[in-house]
Amino acid sequence: MAHDMINDLEEILFSREEIAEGVRRIAQEIARDYENRQLVCVGILKGGFIFMSDLVRELPMQIETDFMVVSSYGNNTSSTGALIIRKELTTDIRNKDVLIIEDIVDSGRTLSYLKQYLSGRGAASIKICALLDKPEGRTVELEADYKVFECENKFVVGYGLDFAEKYRNLPLIGVLKPGVYKNA
Ligand code: IMP
Ligand code: MG
Repeated sequence: MAHDMINDLEEILFSREEIAEGVRRIAQEIARDYENRQLVCVGILKGGFIFMSDLVRELPMQIETDFMVVSSYGNNTSSTGALIIRKELTTDIRNKDVLIIEDIVDSGRTLSYLKQYLSGRGAASIKICALLDKPEGRTVELEADYKVFECENKFVVGYGLDFAEKYRNLPLIGVLKPGVYKNA
């Protein structure tokens, strides 16, 4: 399928096929690690929604799903200050294994804050599954327990990731042309 949004990219990092294969690989790891556990997958909206929906369909076991909406004070392309919880869990996570599903770990602030926020609620474990990891962006110590791809420290869009709320529906992951920012 030809997508006109592709013209706004300077580079395609991961194709649909590569993403599908990567998601299947991570799902197999998760399925093996959480065999006979009570897994709750917690998708972080909005960025995690496409990754989450593909990932959970590759898990061949009973799981629960829930979502949180968080937003950070700060600009469009990086998260700076504190985090605001805009939608809470509705699932009781006591004695269950929580897997937070996020689009990307950049500075690490979002997930570090979220992990801390959810701790103390009696979960058996809290782990992180990220589609992308930008290790060079890190300002706090935070490692994803599962990650599909590492990428360079460039602003990427597609497969859930946005620029100014657009491009989330692009079925692949790419780097935006600088001109697109400047004209926005
Ligand atoms: P962190 O708190 O700096 O790790 O930032 C994570 C959040 O910043 C992600 O959930 C994204 O919403 C956003 N973000 C970071 N890098 C990118 C990117 O390259 N493209 C789109 N969003 C990004
Ligand atoms: Mg975002």
